[in-house]
Amino acid sequence: MTHLVAPSVLSADFNNLQRDAEMINNSEADWFHVDVMDGVFVPNISFGFPVIKALNKIATKPLDVHLMIVNPDQYITQFRDVGAEVLTVHIEACTHLHRSVQAIKAAGMKAGVALNPHTPVNQLEDIIAEIDLVTLMSVNPGFGGQKFIENTYKKVADLVDLKTKANTQCHIEIDGGVTLGNYAQLVQTGADVLVAGSTVFSSENPTQTIADLKKSVG
Ligand code: DX5
Ligand code: ZN
Repeated sequence: MTHLVAPSVLSADFNNLQRDAEMINNSEADWFHVDVMDGVFVPNISFGFPVIKALNKIATKPLDVHLMIVNPDQYITQFRDVGAEVLTVHIEACTHLHRSVQAIKAAGMKAGVALNPHTPVNQLEDIIAEIDLVTLMSVNPGFGGQKFIENTYKKVADLVDLKTKANTQCHIEIDGGVTLGNYAQLVQTGADVLVAGSTVFSSENPTQTIADLKKSVG
């Protein structure tokens, strides 16, 4: 199966959001990755419902919404209403993760669970069969443009093992520091969704960079 590429809107030019969204529409990208930060769970604040709603009017591809917020349960249906197709919560922000995952699915979205770099994959053992996507954070969440944490490869391998043992399918998404230099090894290890912010938007030709990240690996 070929891997998916999800450019992170956080690195787009917000004075030209429509232009950048159209670039993603017309590229080989599969999803829009949309980072929501509350200034509490992470030391940064990004954007919320009005911006996502506006983006959804232009986007012709699914919105993959990554919530870096406390109390995500409070807002699940609102994110569905502004266009989220995949909604990801952090395991570290959810006291009742099973309830959160069921609420996301009941609202008609795919349910994702994100793990910070220090959180071991085995914490998903009793929920893995319920979820559609696991996001392995390969940087500490909060900012684009950070350096990839190499321990992520081990976590991808651990997650592949966990899925095999549980005999279940889910996407393995990598978020943070993905580049043209590491994407192939990530896919070879078992990742199948690559988020890329600065790699795409800081490049001279973002459309071509997305095409390069989509190239199949041997
Ligand atoms: C980080 C965000 C990422 C970020 C990735 O907290 O979750 O999605 O936009 O940006 P890059 O690809 O620049 O590391
Ligand atoms: Zn993200």
